[in-house]
Amino acid sequence: MKKTKLLLFAILSILVFNACNPGTSNMNKDAIDKKVEALLTQMTIEEKVGQMVQYNGFYDATGPAPSDGNAQKKYEHLKNGMVGSFLNIKGVEQVRALQKIAVEETRLGIPLIFGLDVIHGQKTLSPIPLGESASWDLKAIEKSARVAAVEASAMGVNWTFAPMVDIYRDARWGRVMEGAGEDPYLGAKIGVARVKGFQGDDLTANNTIAACAKHFAAYGFVEAGKEYNTVDVGTSTLFNIVFPPFKAVVEADVKTVMNAFNIVNGIPSTGNSFMQREVLKGMWGFKGFVISDWASGAEMVSHGFARDLKEAAMHAANAGSDMDMESYAYVEYLVDLVKEGKVNESVIDEAVGRILRVKYELGLFDDPYKYCDEAREKELVCHNDHQQAVLDMARKSIVLLKNDGKVLPLKKSQKKIAVIGDLADDKTSPLGSWRVSADDETAVSVIEGLKKYTSNFAYAKGVDLVTNPVSFVTELDINTTDKRGFKEAVKLAKKSEVVVMVLGEHGFHSGEGRSRTRIGLPGLQQELLEEVYKVNKNIVLVLMNGRPLALPWAAEHVPAIMETWHLGTQSGNAIADVLFGQYNPSGKLPMSFPRSVGQCPIYYNHFNTGRPGNSGDNVFWSHYTDEENTPLYPFGFGLSYSDFEYSDLVIDDADQKNIKVSVKVSNVSNVEGEEVVQLYIRDRVAAVVRPVKELKGFEKIVLKGKESRTVTFLLTEKELGFYNGEGTFMVEPGEFDVMVGTSSAEGLTGAFVLK
Ligand code: GLC
Repeated sequence: MKKTKLLLFAILSILVFNACNPGTSNMNKDAIDKKVEALLTQMTIEEKVGQMVQYNGFYDATGPAPSDGNAQKKYEHLKNGMVGSFLNIKGVEQVRALQKIAVEETRLGIPLIFGLDVIHGQKTLSPIPLGESASWDLKAIEKSARVAAVEASAMGVNWTFAPMVDIYRDARWGRVMEGAGEDPYLGAKIGVARVKGFQGDDLTANNTIAACAKHFAAYGFVEAGKEYNTVDVGTSTLFNIVFPPFKAVVEADVKTVMNAFNIVNGIPSTGNSFMQREVLKGMWGFKGFVISDWASGAEMVSHGFARDLKEAAMHAANAGSDMDMESYAYVEYLVDLVKEGKVNESVIDEAVGRILRVKYELGLFDDPYKYCDEAREKELVCHNDHQQAVLDMARKSIVLLKNDGKVLPLKKSQKKIAVIGDLADDKTSPLGSWRVSADDETAVSVIEGLKKYTSNFAYAKGVDLVTNPVSFVTELDINTTDKRGFKEAVKLAKKSEVVVMVLGEHGFHSGEGRSRTRIGLPGLQQELLEEVYKVNKNIVLVLMNGRPLALPWAAEHVPAIMETWHLGTQSGNAIADVLFGQYNPSGKLPMSFPRSVGQCPIYYNHFNTGRPGNSGDNVFWSHYTDEENTPLYPFGFGLSYSDFEYSDLVIDDADQKNIKVSVKVSNVSNVEGEEVVQLYIRDRVAAVVRPVKELKGFEKIVLKGKESRTVTFLLTEKELGFYNGEGTFMVEPGEFDVMVGTSSAEGLTGAFVLK
């Protein structure tokens, strides 16, 4: 009896507490809605449309920027309250100057919101997002975004155009460096971690910024990996692969979404009402606002979806694209379109309401200058604490792909180490692409990192990677003729015990506008590698790249290979820490590495097809005659200096709502290490065919030498269900295969029946 009374009392107290303290967000939400409604009633149609206009700053451009002549027009529009936002404005001084005009010199004083591509850091850079994603460490990824937000907000930025949550499978596409790889489950978890890092717990604080999930949608499916190319994906792929990361970050309260350059089902994303209104704002209840991608509104004319810019403005507004980045479509035509009845003013009010709401939630109306504190800028940008955070992130992003004969870790006592490769001495490329605010030459190079461990090494560049070290590299800049450095490099390798070769891509060999048809080592690097190998086979290949590379020769011949991506500011220190065993590598590939570019797109969660396997010696099955079907390195793959073994897989399906899958993981070495335990399922028969494998759980664990641990996963309807061709979520009874292991290609298998 006493227990019941206690329980009743506890429940009663919780109910009373909640009644007196409605969640601050609900209270703020109602109050903000009232303020937005009140402000809308005061605004002219011109001022409303002004809020839907975003201009590039008068400085950098991250797209085909208009001629300088527009700067004066932008300035006039700003003074007339016809601008809602700027992008690419950097630094407190510039932000304050523009904010002052908007707030103190226009009729209603509505504050601007300042956006910037803070993709993997502001000044202190983390690894490129694909690299971070290889850590599978959600806490570290959230921390990385938090550091980026602190530095960006200190420089006046209120809003980042990140995380990019596109799913993609084609290494030819330059923007694979920018997201979380090929899997929607991992992509969703990482997208949420990044949004949490950027937006924090209190968006009114001056060290949190609005996030932006992009690009909505399916930009990662550009045909043949060619930038800005046609996209043609079915509804089932949209709902099962493309949408899940977007849906997850909407549920995590992401404040903005950016649409995409590409068409979906024949309609440009910016003018796509099904995606923006029916799915994003309707089915998912997204309350923030949609911004177009750079001039994607105007580009609907090129697509052949709009006759002219005015029609493009009409399509974009009616389809739910709330703010127009650098199209000049809204500022030129939207007022007229409303007056002509082609766009209802309610459409404008809905869009402007969403924009104003985010500005209120950011606290910009309470204090438009809250991000404009010069002292804070000086104190926080490049703060020492941030170095430790990005170093931790960089170490965890490194993937050990091969370590035959335990060549690694190197010993500090190791004599005669040769270091070869242009990238070993490069302090800029490791910063990677999409570093709009970081300064060149600010990365710790591999050479600098090694010096912390040993002086027993000599360096030879071997070959210039580019002919003219500029920030924006194109294939024309890649050195394909000058081999003058070969001789010195080979000579050094010949007299050395071990050769560390740092090869890969220039920092701007990947990123937007950098699709490639060849994905081997650029330039003369492969030839240099083979020349060195002829005189010394004891090579550690350190890869520095923004995309999966096709490296069959290296995979066959080189004893040790480390994937280090572009690791950001602390690159050289992280690489040295792993080379010398200070940090035991724990990364796992978030994207398959192909054997050859001909296999692209290649991904682990593929369908079985009607002819999956070789039935006898005929050719009539799904394969190439000149290449294997399997990737060189599969999704989820990564080695460690420890050795892990899996045993005792148990599937308990007694509770059909919570099917328990557990496995014992043992570190059979004496070296403490981290392992990402991965759970995959296969729904054998379904209303729409299901992939041969789908990641539905992972856990990164630390095991001391000789330590074991049982890891348990739960499979619920959320994990077992799928979307049919109409976008309806379904859970069907039937047989499911289960695999738990160290990668998508290796693990213990079992099965259960969902009744
Ligand atoms: C670019 C990119 C987008 C970026 C925007 C602003 O073209 O597609 O990801 O956020 O323009 O720089």
